[in-house]
Amino acid sequence: MIATAIALGLAGLAALYFHLTRNFDYWQKRGVKHDKPWPLFGNNAKNFFMLANLTDITAEAYRKHPGEKIVGSFKYSAPELVIRDPALAVQILTDSTHFHRRGANPKNFAIDPLLKNLFSVDDDLWRLLRSRMTTAFSSGKLKAMFPLILERTERLQNRLQNIAIQNKLIDARTLMEQYTIDVIGAIGFGVNSDSLSGENTAFRQLGIKMNTHNFIRTLKLNLKYSLPKIFGHLKILHEIEREVMCMMKTLMQQRNNEPSGRNDFIDMLLECKKKGAMTGESIVEVDADGNPKKVSIEMDDEIMAAQLFILFAAGFESSSVSTSHALHQLAHNPREQQKAQEEIDRVLAKHDNKLSYDAISEMTYLRWCFNEGLRIFPTGGFLQRQCARACVIPNVNVSIDPGVNVKIPVTAFHNDPKIFPEPKEFRPERFDPEVLTVEQKLAYMPFGNGTRSCIAERLGLMQSLAALAAVLAKFSVTPVPGSPQHPPTNRERVIDVKITIAAVIA
Ligand code: HEM
Ligand SMILES: *[C@@H]1O[C@H](CO)[C@@H](O)[C@H](O)[C@H]1NC(C)=O
Ligand SMILES: *[C@@H]1O[C@H](CO)[C@@H](O)[C@H](O)[C@H]1NC(C)=O
Ligand SMILES: *[C@@H]1O[C@H](CO)[C@@H](O)[C@H](O)[C@H]1NC(C)=O
Repeated sequence: MIATAIALGLAGLAALYFHLTRNFDYWQKRGVKHDKPWPLFGNNAKNFFMLANLTDITAEAYRKHPGEKIVGSFKYSAPELVIRDPALAVQILTDSTHFHRRGANPKNFAIDPLLKNLFSVDDDLWRLLRSRMTTAFSSGKLKAMFPLILERTERLQNRLQNIAIQNKLIDARTLMEQYTIDVIGAIGFGVNSDSLSGENTAFRQLGIKMNTHNFIRTLKLNLKYSLPKIFGHLKILHEIEREVMCMMKTLMQQRNNEPSGRNDFIDMLLECKKKGAMTGESIVEVDADGNPKKVSIEMDDEIMAAQLFILFAAGFESSSVSTSHALHQLAHNPREQQKAQEEIDRVLAKHDNKLSYDAISEMTYLRWCFNEGLRIFPTGGFLQRQCARACVIPNVNVSIDPGVNVKIPVTAFHNDPKIFPEPKEFRPERFDPEVLTVEQKLAYMPFGNGTRSCIAERLGLMQSLAALAAVLAKFSVTPVPGSPQHPPTNRERVIDVKITIAAVIA
C-alpha cells in the first residue's frame, strides 16, 4: 500500500520533472550558447523571486556572452533568444512576415478584456487596429492638438514660479508625472485634470495605479507564465477594468457618441467606430488557393475600452520617466544645461518669444539632450517579438519554431562601452549626425523599431521637449545635495532637483 503510494509519487515527480525539462536541449541541439536552465524556472528564477526584472535578466544574458550574435535561454520551460547584434536585431524587428507578434502576455481575453489593446494583441486584431489607429498619430493631428499641450506647459511654468519663489526642492519625477497626466487628460480624454495645482486628482491616481508593478500583480503574472494550466485564469488587470470601462462610457455619452472636433483619443475612437467593422487581409490565415483570407472584426465597447487603457498606460509612465530623467541629467550636467538654455533663448527670440510646434522642432540640442537621457535609461528596457512561423535566423543559420520569443536587450545595447564609449557619461553631442556611427544608429532604439515600434513616437518626443523647453526657458535646475546622478528608477519618490529662476543669458 505505502510502497505503491511512494512508487506512484515518484513516478509523478519523474513525469513532472520530464515535463518541465522536456525542452531543455533546444539550444544545445542548435549549437546556440546558453546558461544551464533549472527545472520549473529555466533561467528565470531571479525574476520569479523578484530579485531582478526582465530588463536585468536580458542585459545579463547580453553581458555574459560577448562575441556571440545570439544567446539562448529558457523562460520556465519555453526557449527564448536574446539578440546581441544590433544589425541582426533591426533585421528581426523589421521582418513583418515572421516577427509581427509581440507575444507579450499569456492572453485570455474572456478574463482580461483590457488586454485586447494594441500593445498586447497579436496577429489579425493587431494588424487591423494598427492600421486604423495610425492616422490618429499623424503629424497633422499632432499639430492640431499641440495648442492643448502648450497650455499645459504654461501651467508647468506657473507652478515652478511658485516653487522657485518659495525656494522649495522638488522631485522631478512627480513634477513630470503631473505634467504628463495633464497632457494626456487634455489631448486624450478632453478632461481638465489639472494635476499641476491639485496634488492627487483621481485621474492621476488611475495613471499611477495602472503602472504600479505591485507585488501581487507580478506574482500573478509569473504564475500565469510558469504554470499556465493551473494559473491561467488569474485576472491581472482586475482592479482597473471597471474604472476604465466606466470612464469611457461616461465620456462617450457626454459627446452623444459623436466626435466633438477636439481631436483627442475619445474622438479618435468614436471615429474609428463610425467607420464600422475593421476589415483587411489576414496575416495568418490563407484560403484554399493560398491567398490571404479576408478578415473582419467589429470595434465593440470592449475593444475601444482596451485602446483607451493602452493610450493611457503606454503614454503615462514612458513619457513622465523619460522627461524627468532628462531633467535630472541636466541638473547634474550644468554645462550641457546652459548650452540647451542658450539654444532655447536663441530659437525663442526668432519666434516672438513663444513656444510653438515649429520653435520646438528647431531645438536640435535639446532633442539631443532628451535622446541622451533615453540612451542612458531607455524606459522600455528591452523589446520582444515572437516567432509567428518557422524561420531561420539570418547570418547565424539557426532555425527556430513558431512561439519562440526573441528579446532585444535595448538597455544593454545603449550602455555597452563598445558601442557607446563611456556609457555612463551624459553627452548629448553623441547624437550629432556628424559623429553618430552606423552601429550606434542601429543600436539606439528607445521607441523600438519596425512595424511594431511606438505608434506615438512623435507625440512622446514633442510633449517631452515642450516640457523641457518650458522649464529651461525660465528656470535652471540643480541637483539636491546627495542625489546620485544615476538614481535607481524603481525608487521611492525622492526630492532630487532644486529649481531656480534662470539668470537671463544675454
Ligand atoms: C517618451 C515616450 C515614449 C516612449 C519612450 C515609448 C516607447 C515605446 C516602446 C519601446 C514601444 C515598443 C516598441 C517595439 O516593440 O518595437 C512602444 C510601443 C507602443 N507605444 Fe510608446 N512610448 C512613448 C510614448 C507613447 C505614448 C505617448 C503613447 C500613446 C499615447 C504610446 C503608445 C504606444 C503603443 C500603443 C505601442 C504599441 C504599438 C504596437 O504594438 O503596434 N507610447 N512605445
Ligand atoms: C545551415 O544549417 C543547416 C542545418 O543545420 C545545414 O544543412 C546548412 O548547410 C547550413 N547552411 C549554411 C549556409 O551554413
Ligand atoms: C529602424 O532602424 C533603422 C536603422 O537604424 C532606421 O533607419 C529606421 O528609421 C528605424 N525605424 C523605426 C520605425 O524606428
Ligand atoms: C530593473 O532593475 C534595476 C535594478 O536591479 C533598475 O536599475 C532598473 O531601472 C529596473 N528597470 C526597470 C525597467 O524598471
